[in-house]
Amino acid sequence: MKTAIVYYSLNGNSEFMAKNLAGRLGGDLVRLECQKPYPARGPLKFIKGGKDAMAGVEPPLRPYTFDDTGYDLVILAFPVWADKVPPAINTFLRDHDLSGVRVALVVSSAGGSGEKCVADCVSKMRGQANPPVLSLRNPADGKDAQLGEKLEEFCSTLR
Ligand SMILES: Cc1cc2nc3c(=O)[nH]c(=O)nc-3n(C[C@H](O)[C@H](O)[C@H](O)COP(=O)(O)O)c2cc1C
Repeated sequence: MKTAIVYYSLNGNSEFMAKNLAGRLGGDLVRLECQKPYPARGPLKFIKGGKDAMAGVEPPLRPYTFDDTGYDLVILAFPVWADKVPPAINTFLRDHDLSGVRVALVVSSAGGSGEKCVADCVSKMRGQANPPVLSLRNPADGKDAQLGEKLEEFCSTLR
């Protein structure tokens, strides 16, 4: 099974998840970065990022390698931004047709369930009505004692 783990991460949590999953499942890590990065700290972080996420902005991305037809499984990992997907994911979903691929989502939030963000993502993908979802709260902070079990359970549904 050829797997891609495509991720966008502003503060490292989604990157932590993407790398952990790559260690367990193997596969290509594909990092999405905005050509003009969003502020990673300070008040503008939430103002600018939240505004663009709510508006569905599709910012230009730095070059990356991803072949729409090259994978059996694509895992998308990203943070919740104002209950939406972050703008880099909008651009990725606009540019790639994932309708023929198995897709799974890994969503990182500060406190919410991530449900609205997942619904936003599903609405922007073709042919992915009910993908497997792993939703975690700031997983890189080391506070979730069950993280390893959750990851292993998620991976076993994907293998
Ligand atoms: C612009 C912005 C908006 C956010 N909106 C939400 C939100 O609506 N709900 C929530 O639980 N967390 C929200 N967060 C927190 C992040 O989803 C959370 O800290 C996540 O783990 C960060 O992932 P990252 O380290 O991969 O960037 C927001 C963060 C940013 C920067």
